[in-house]
Amino acid sequence: MSTSPDLPAVARSAPEIPRHYQRIVLASRPRGPVLPENFRIETVAVPALGDSEVLVRNHYLSLDPYMRGRMSAAKSYAASQELEHTMIGNTVGQVVASRHAGMAVGDYVGGLLGWAEMGVADGAALRKLDVTQVALPVYLGAVGMPGMAAWYGLTQIIQPKAGETLVVSAASGAVGSVVGQLAKLRGCRVVGIAGGAAKCAHVRDVLGFDACVDYKAGNLEADLAAATPDGVDGIFENVGGATLEAALARTNAFARIALCGLIGGFNGQEMPIKNSRILLIRRLSLRGFIVTEHMELWPQGLQELQALVAAGKLKYHHSVAQGLASAPQAFIGLLQGQNLGKQLVKLN
Ligand SMILES: NC(=O)c1ccc[n+]([C@@H]2O[C@H](COP(=O)([O-])OP(=O)(O)OC[C@H]3O[C@@H](n4cnc5c(N)ncnc54)[C@H](OP(=O)(O)O)[C@@H]3O)[C@@H](O)[C@H]2O)c1
Repeated sequence: MSTSPDLPAVARSAPEIPRHYQRIVLASRPRGPVLPENFRIETVAVPALGDSEVLVRNHYLSLDPYMRGRMSAAKSYAASQELEHTMIGNTVGQVVASRHAGMAVGDYVGGLLGWAEMGVADGAALRKLDVTQVALPVYLGAVGMPGMAAWYGLTQIIQPKAGETLVVSAASGAVGSVVGQLAKLRGCRVVGIAGGAAKCAHVRDVLGFDACVDYKAGNLEADLAAATPDGVDGIFENVGGATLEAALARTNAFARIALCGLIGGFNGQEMPIKNSRILLIRRLSLRGFIVTEHMELWPQGLQELQALVAAGKLKYHHSVAQGLASAPQAFIGLLQGQNLGKQLVKLN
């Protein structure tokens, strides 16, 4: 945050810098499902900038399942979100004042500025974004953290070969939609699992998966078996529980499982692997990963994702809530599967 009382002259003379902005803090920790009262919106003063700091007006906020884990006090791979602090979140926006040599007013940047209309960060903590070929909000989805999770789990863990069959759960979402398209480009047969006929139609007809199983239709195991006549060589798991069980049952020997997420257990449900014997009998490899622990691979992955989006070969869909105040309900909706593709909030 700010240490200096003054903004640089260029910024102080810019008329569009407001004095206040809105942010959302974590007001209480959920006990079970997330509720709107777990959040509070408040107005805060725009701080003055310290040396090398940048003031950013956020245009879009990303809502991601990992935020549910941070709202809990339970020990995890990352520290809990502190109460009364701005909710953690990735943002993209534009520099409105800068005391950083490498950042100019008007630059498009991505950062971790949270559920807030504006934010201050050291310029070194922000990433400059080229919006000439890829639209700004895509840097929160297909060419951002979710896209990188897809790229990492697929290319580094599953390592698919042409002709193999892959199963992807939460297939219509931010991560799953990218996984399936990248696998198709590598010559695989790709079967998605998603909730509802409309999502499955999107996965098949828009994203180009070979098949999609609607787990809400009630015949998950039989439908997945019918969609994978040659068995399964790779599983990209985003949900856990019944979807993982069903996919494991279809594996061929030496199948690889990238364990990306367990959203099915976000409200504290146990996520046992009941048929764990299959892991031994079929000599399966299962590896969990956290994509932010592999930053050395981000330039390579982002370059591929960005080029594919620019060439129109990687499709994306955004569900966009309007205004910061809509963020809590949009986040609750994400956890209930109401989003199609990447869930964003457009900030005023
Ligand atoms: N390891 C990493 O580094 C990393 C990075 C990013 C994301 N992730 C994980 O990847 C997964 C997908 O993230 P995302 O950003 O792409 O989210 P998303 O798929 O865009 O949205 C979440 C989707 O999960 C499904 N879902 C929600 N609750 C469910 C439940 N109880 N049972 C079954 N499905 C449920 C819903 O789709 P349906 O309607 O189809 O059920 C919902 O639309 C999450 O588990 C997330 O934690 C991990």
